[in-house]
Order: sequence, then C-alpha cells, then structure tokens
Amino acid sequence: AGRTIKLYDSVDSTQTIAHKLAQEGAAEGTIVLAEQQTAGRGRMGRSWHSPKGKGIWMSLLLRPRMPLQFTPQLTLLVAVALCRAIRKLEPLPVGIKWPNDLLIEGKKITGILLESSAEDERLHYVIVGIGISVNLETGDYPETLRSVATSLRIASGREWSRTGLIAAFLEQFETLYKLYHDEGFEPIRASWEALSVSLGKTIRARTPKGEVEGVAESIDEMGALRLRTPDGKVTKLYSAEI
Ligand code: BTN
Repeated sequence: AGRTIKLYDSVDSTQTIAHKLAQEGAAEGTIVLAEQQTAGRGRMGRSWHSPKGKGIWMSLLLRPRMPLQFTPQLTLLVAVALCRAIRKLEPLPVGIKWPNDLLIEGKKITGILLESSAEDERLHYVIVGIGISVNLETGDYPETLRSVATSLRIASGREWSRTGLIAAFLEQFETLYKLYHDEGFEPIRASWEALSVSLGKTIRARTPKGEVEGVAESIDEMGALRLRTPDGKVTKLYSAEI
C-alpha cells in the first residue's frame, strides 16, 4: 500500500533509473518497471535479454535497517519470495540454484541482481533487480540462450499475467521482509534450503580468488554457501559463479 510504481516503455536498464530515484530520496518500496530494456544488466557483468512485453523487468528500492554486510541474506530472501510466488500461481517444479537463480528442469527462468550504494553506511540503499522470463517463446531467445534458459510460458504451456505475478511476488516479499526484520535470517535460511536445488551437489565455483570445487552443504547464518572441498575442509562462498 502507498507504493510508488514507475512504468516505462523502453529504458536502458531499470537499475539505472532506480539508482537515480534512490539518490533523489525516493522511499523504500519504490518500483521501476519497463516493457523493454535495451541494456539490461546481469550478474558478473553480463547482459540480460529483456525483449519487449515478454517479461517482468523490475527494480525494487530497499532501505534495509541492517548493515551492508547482510546483503547476501537479502539476496536469498528475494529468491525465496519469487519461488513461492510462482509456485503459488502454479505448482511448477521451480527450485533455487545458489545464490539466486530460479530454475525449472535445469533451465533458468529468473535472474536477480542486487546493487547497493556503499558510500554512506547509515543511509545505504539496495536496488533489487529482478528479471522474470514470463511469456517468452523459444523463438524469442537468441540461439546461445536456448539450451540454458526457459520461461514460465514454455514450462507451463500457457500465457501468464505479468501483473498477477508481480502482485504475488510483492505479497510474498513483504511477508518475508517483515519476518526478516522481526525474527532475523533463520526462518529465511531454512526456507531457502528447502527450495534449493544446489544442496548436496558437487559444485565448481569461480570466485574472485580463483576456482573452488566441493559439495554444497548448507547456508550459514550470514547467507554464505558452505562448500566441503575434497580435502575435507569447509569453504564459504558469498558470491560466485557456479
Ligand atoms: C542475472 O544475471 O541472473 C541477473 C539478471 C537481472 C536482470 C534484471 S531485469 C530488471 C533489472 N534491470 C537490469 O538491468 N537487470 C535487472
């Protein structure tokens, strides 16, 4: 309630607009939506395919009450909210690949990108970028993405209402965000683990410090993935490519 939603036809990236609004003092909960992005951003410096009218390309402004080092927890919270929202609308086999990709049968349907302002610890904000491939058909993907990406439409065989899904997401998100501030990360951590497709699997991760391989054991209290490496030790990952 009382949330500002800004809807654009075509933008370079909804993230860029959300940063600008945040710096101008926009309130927590401000949302930027676009029909199309011409320079959609993905994680790890990649681009994000955002064709017109086919998906949800959205940025959500948060002003969290906890310090910046807790941002990995928020990342997992958003993934849980998104996964629950989709499953509530249709019982598709959606799972979370660490840290925050949603997959159906091994193919990606959503991507989440968190960008935070680091300059002032007390006034920091986080822009949660969410890309959901809703009504894309196989032909809407470039050849290179077809083997790794899918959409809700491809997975379910029907068109989805984008507004219905946005509303379902915001409802789940608000519930979890409140729970997080009231009870801390533990309930979110437990829900994430229950929805994960990564735990118990051998994972090879590219980190800023190099490659590591190990079995994904659990998520710790800070939101890091605990990997058991072949030498029996535990490595913690906060952000990586797997
Ligand atoms: C990923 O690499 O998986 C993250 C993709 C995030 C894409 C979304 S779409 C809305 C928002 N604006 C952007 O430019 N990127 C995010």
